Amino acid sequence: TRGEWKRMWKQRLLFLGLSLLILLGIIKGGEPVLTADAPAAIPKEQKYIALTFDDGPRAATTSRLLDGLKERGASATFFLVGEEIEGNEELVKRMWREGHQIGNHTWSHVRLEGASPAVITEEVQKTESKLEEVLGDSGYWLRPPYGLVTAGTEKQIQVPMVKWSVDPRDWESRNTEKVVQAVLKDAKPNSIILLHDIYPTSVDAALQIVDTLQAEGYCFVTVEELLALNGVTPQAGVMYRDGNPS
Ligand code: NI
Repeated sequence: TRGEWKRMWKQRLLFLGLSLLILLGIIKGGEPVLTADAPAAIPKEQKYIALTFDDGPRAATTSRLLDGLKERGASATFFLVGEEIEGNEELVKRMWREGHQIGNHTWSHVRLEGASPAVITEEVQKTESKLEEVLGDSGYWLRPPYGLVTAGTEKQIQVPMVKWSVDPRDWESRNTEKVVQAVLKDAKPNSIILLHDIYPTSVDAALQIVDTLQAEGYCFVTVEELLALNGVTPQAGVMYRDGNPS
């Protein structure tokens, strides 16, 4: 019948059309434009998070952490105590080479809150100079010890400052499982997590945290990258506690 004839031609045209598309695809890119009916993988909405490590470097624990981060393709930020850099220069260069952000945690881990302007300048500048000497770059961001500076002294700080939004108090428990659970309970996209790479338990915890959150679709970036990804332009003397635009 006329209906069947029409349907047959429709099928033929459809077949020809599809063959042509596949052929064009093969000629153009080597891969057919149409493959079986497997849908393209839908990308998960990207979630970014930053791990930060204070008080290092310490040869044994920090190198093991760097090995683990490298294996997992995770970046982190290290706030270094100036007087710990001596003798660990190669380790600091390795952090830098492997794409981690390096920051300043004062020369001798002094509480900047309540310190005199002269002490603040000396403690910050000495570490800045040491890092400039080792790495040849400048303007290392500051994490004040205990996350505190006296209100009004921010103007003295010529770089952005970094606090945190997730603190598992790893230095207190020194218990891998407790640290992992405390971080996973509070971690959200754009969190800045505080850990200390001078404890073996914190290194173990950090790597477990990376494994768990990567499986949930998180990408581990430096603090600088986290801010940039959120369109935040870092300002000198301003304290950032997470990556969220304020
Ligand atoms: Ni500290």
